[in-house]
Amino acid sequence: MGVKLFYLLSVIVAVSAQGYRVCIPTSQPVLCQSLDKDGSQAVCEPVESKIDCAIKLSRGDADLGVFSEEEMVLLSQEKSSTVRVVGSVRDAFRNEPFAFESVAVVQATHTGGLEGLRGGRYCHPGLDEPDLRWSPRVLKTLEKVAAGTDRCPDANMNGKTAEELEVETLSQFFSSACRPGPWSANETVDLDLKSRYQSLCSLCGENAGCSRYTIDMGVNINNVNNNNRHIQALECLRREESKGVAYVAWQHVREYFTIRNPQVTTSFALLCPDGSLQILTREAVSQTTAPCSFVKQPWRALVAAEARSPEIQNQLKLWWPNGASPGGNIWTAVLFSAIVGGNNVRVNFEDALPNPIVYASPLRNITAQDASPSCVPARRWCTISSLEHAKCTWLQLAVHTLGIEPAISCQQRLSSFDCLRDIKDNTADFIATPANYGYIARQRYGLSSVKLVQNSRNDPRAFSRVATLLKATTASSEITRFENLRGKKACFPEFGGISYLSFVRAAHEREVISPSECDYARAVGEFFTGACAPGALNASHAIASSDYDVTPLCSLCKPANATFNVSSICTYDSSNKYYGNSGAVACLADPEADVAFVELENIDVNLRAAGLDASQIRVLCRNNTLAMSVGVTVDSNCLLADVVDSEVLSRRNDPLLNSLNALLDALDLHFGYNAVTSTQLINLAMYSPFDGVNDLLFRNTAVGLSEPSSVTANEPARNYNELFQHLDSCTSSAPPVPGLGSRNFYSYVTFIIMAVMTRYVIY
Ligand SMILES: *[C@@H]1O[C@H](CO)[C@@H](O)[C@H](O)[C@H]1NC(C)=O
Ligand SMILES: *[C@@H]1O[C@H](CO)[C@@H](O)[C@H](O)[C@H]1NC(C)=O
Ligand SMILES: *[C@@H]1O[C@H](CO)[C@@H](O)[C@H](O)[C@H]1NC(C)=O
Ligand SMILES: *[C@@H]1O[C@H](CO)[C@@H](O)[C@H](O)[C@H]1NC(C)=O
Ligand SMILES: *[C@@H]1O[C@H](CO)[C@@H](O)[C@H](O)[C@H]1NC(C)=O
Ligand SMILES: *[C@@H]1O[C@H](CO)[C@@H](O)[C@H](O)[C@H]1NC(C)=O
Repeated sequence: MGVKLFYLLSVIVAVSAQGYRVCIPTSQPVLCQSLDKDGSQAVCEPVESKIDCAIKLSRGDADLGVFSEEEMVLLSQEKSSTVRVVGSVRDAFRNEPFAFESVAVVQATHTGGLEGLRGGRYCHPGLDEPDLRWSPRVLKTLEKVAAGTDRCPDANMNGKTAEELEVETLSQFFSSACRPGPWSANETVDLDLKSRYQSLCSLCGENAGCSRYTIDMGVNINNVNNNNRHIQALECLRREESKGVAYVAWQHVREYFTIRNPQVTTSFALLCPDGSLQILTREAVSQTTAPCSFVKQPWRALVAAEARSPEIQNQLKLWWPNGASPGGNIWTAVLFSAIVGGNNVRVNFEDALPNPIVYASPLRNITAQDASPSCVPARRWCTISSLEHAKCTWLQLAVHTLGIEPAISCQQRLSSFDCLRDIKDNTADFIATPANYGYIARQRYGLSSVKLVQNSRNDPRAFSRVATLLKATTASSEITRFENLRGKKACFPEFGGISYLSFVRAAHEREVISPSECDYARAVGEFFTGACAPGALNASHAIASSDYDVTPLCSLCKPANATFNVSSICTYDSSNKYYGNSGAVACLADPEADVAFVELENIDVNLRAAGLDASQIRVLCRNNTLAMSVGVTVDSNCLLADVVDSEVLSRRNDPLLNSLNALLDALDLHFGYNAVTSTQLINLAMYSPFDGVNDLLFRNTAVGLSEPSSVTANEPARNYNELFQHLDSCTSSAPPVPGLGSRNFYSYVTFIIMAVMTRYVIY
């Protein structure tokens, strides 16, 4: 208490003394406390990600943040002009204007410019080379320019991934190569490509597995690291006479040719983007900047809100004389090590206070996405709100900046159903939706799962846990088994939703509904004598090829209040008193209703709101017995379903499905929780809140993606697949004849037997 009060007071004092609000990740709360020392002029501004920091800075809701090299490129792409660069953060031991420059080294005898590389050797530091934080765009720049991997004039794209099209082109352009590291974030794709395009690994050396170089590097020489992949790529180029190219960083070219192999320097040259050659003379390799380069990377930088930037820069010059940490344990030193780094970095104050466009664009002027060629067209992500769209747009820009392929584009629609329809109609490609819509998406819109969303294990919100709730009063007398539900009145949160589907599955399992009945509207409508299944009348929810009149599925619904007092209501929004999980619980409180199928998330709140006590409820378990006692606390065996709560949906049989699948793996790698913050190129958190708002694009409970196959190790994912087995059996065999014809002999027999059994059980 005392500590909290002290903290609060010191915040107030700091703010009143014009404290500077510095972006600090929410994952580092300890930092905020250590920043909070006597006399501190810095105040913690907790942010979920660097993107949130950028948004706050541009609104003037934060004062100072630090951004990585690629984040600076992103900000310039985003055209952030209401923020200013107050200083760049440089390596104290490298007096160079760029964080790195990437260059192409060839033999001095090279002819034919970039096209002259065709048929030659290609030595690459590797796609997983962490040293200089090269993005996929940087890693692949020479390939794009020389081999045209971004153009596939007559490639057959069917079923292929972007990665496959890329290596296909590369393997046709270069005769041999070493291009180590993963070629795809998707392991299956990577392994497949590595086995099919072995020429691109042939220069890596024996037993390299295309994951590294194992070539003989000769003796070790001081100050040149033989294990450095750039040095290895240069050695790969030098050791054979046939023509070739090494795509490496200028700083390592200098090491290699000044320290390691000075005798051969002038036998090599840089191949410039315009096709000209620059011989590597002694003079050239003594310069910190390259004679020509493919990519020049801006240093990471300190960025301030525009309005306060001159003032902040002056302060920083006082806090950090000469751009270095003052040392010791005072708050300015704490701040320096928190956001800038240790002894090996210096802040270089940018007196002109450039905006990010002026700072980064002259170096990295990336062509806009619309104007960039690509083999696989951008995959269109469907969004349903302006904030979700904003998060998607940042992600789109980050994907484009880093050069992840295929690109994404964001398509905003009014609702999830509009998205499902537009994905079906091929005007959008994918969306992550709640499992609640899994059945409708498959049955009505012909979609299928590309990925299931993995959730954090200990978050109760993270799974859809569906149970059958009965009134305790009737539970022991009238209803003890699923058979007894025939002719009763039922409450569902939504027509075709996860609870509805879970009931149908249990009813199929218990054979109280004929397993041959593939029309789930008819199946449920004819089983009960009344129900509220919100949305049943709406075309968005309609079951494909059903001619069943769903009116009975709405008979129990009631308007929320007089505003919506119409003769019949079956809407799937709050105008329907019985819509959703809370509505279905309220519905159960209705004297007319007998049973409710609901998700247990927030069940206590929903019971209270409906004026019910848990002791008035008895759960009917999936194995057809009543729960041992009253209440809503049951084990997972008792539940109708215990499944993942969301999935990524796309068109079934989309020829670009594989490329979308691999793209999602890449997004997870770069923007998911697998991305280690220290090595992450752009700190955008795909599964986390954005701009203070939860559940955009993904629910916050998401931690990763998993495969939708039924062999997955994840149990809720396996359970989820099982929910659709009956639907799959319906769609794979010939569809049943709609209308009376579908009530075949079997269902009649079942009906009669069930009716008899029901009587037997009751009396
Ligand atoms: C970036 O490129 C575009 C188009 O090529 C050009 O119009 C613009 O001036 C360039 N910007 C900078 C800062 O070089
Ligand atoms: C379907 O639902 C949408 C959104 O709630 C509504 O605008 C539309 O009128 C409904 N259509 C029918 C036929 O109920
Ligand atoms: C009726 O219910 C709707 C939705 O719950 C609510 O927005 C509206 O304010 C209510 N109107 C009245 C008069 O209670
Ligand atoms: C709704 O309208 C009916 C008649 O149309 C009326 O009997 C009933 O009292 C109304 N309910 C409310 C909540 O106003
Ligand atoms: C049915 O499941 C419940 C909940 O897991 C369990 O307590 C009960 O013993 C089971 N009954 C039978 C007959 O298997
Ligand atoms: C990789 O992508 C393929 C489709 O190209 C997909 O079938 C597979 O499940 C993906 N995941 C993994 C982990 O390989």
